Amino acid sequence: MLDGQKVRARPGETVLSVAKRHGIEIPALCHHDSISDYGACRLCVVEAFWGKGSKLVTSCIYTPWQDERIETNNQRVGRARKMVLELLLARCPEVEEIRDLAREYGVIEPRFRGRPHESETERCILCGLCVRVCAEVVGQSAIGYANRGLDRVISTPFGAQADECIGCGACVFVCPTGALHYEDIDGCRIMKELNTRVPMVACRCCGKFFATEAQIAKVRQRLKLPDELADTCPRCRGTEFRGTLEKCLVSRS
Ligand code: SF4
Ligand code: FES
Repeated sequence: MLDGQKVRARPGETVLSVAKRHGIEIPALCHHDSISDYGACRLCVVEAFWGKGSKLVTSCIYTPWQDERIETNNQRVGRARKMVLELLLARCPEVEEIRDLAREYGVIEPRFRGRPHESETERCILCGLCVRVCAEVVGQSAIGYANRGLDRVISTPFGAQADECIGCGACVFVCPTGALHYEDIDGCRIMKELNTRVPMVACRCCGKFFATEAQIAKVRQRLKLPDELADTCPRCRGTEFRGTLEKCLVSRS
């Protein structure tokens, strides 16, 4: 039973996924449908009941038992989420996504304080989505966790330029709190927080920089693209080389 509805979970399916399929919303900062779950933010807690007992479980990594009863939004769950939000807000007071959620759960001023020197600028909640997208989806493992406890951060190996980074920006895209950024300046993609610069390629037609050299090389490893397609930006590819692109796609199908 999920919030009083009789539901059937698929083998291995998590409570979060079952809830989503049934239109039940659970806040989930560190979940992404294309990336494995890790249960880092703890915002997705729900209460699982069996017999006379119950416990709070992390719905993005919890697979339900048969006949278990789950409540996703009762008082105990609300209190637990409120506490999580107070902690997140104390760490990252300027992150709009966290402030909005906190407001929703009635947190105006958290009872806790983050470390003074970092509380104004800290945006990372250490959810690890960036680490997992890089390893699991891009296949590069350019970044990871460094240090322990309060000093834990997301970093490239030894905080230096990451040779493995192809500058694709997937980490920036999945980050739920806007902690990572990149900027394209003078033919170079600069990942400021990751201390990494990756050279870019200019489109052979319009001359605009559109992707990094390493990204193009990675795509070419997977697809046999002729030079004129690989070095052309998506816009010019559609206009200048439509025929070549179509031929290429047909030959792959
Ligand atoms: S940088 Fe963003 S995605 Fe990576 S751990 Fe921090 S909050 Fe999560
Ligand atoms: S979404 Fe489940 S712990 Fe973050």
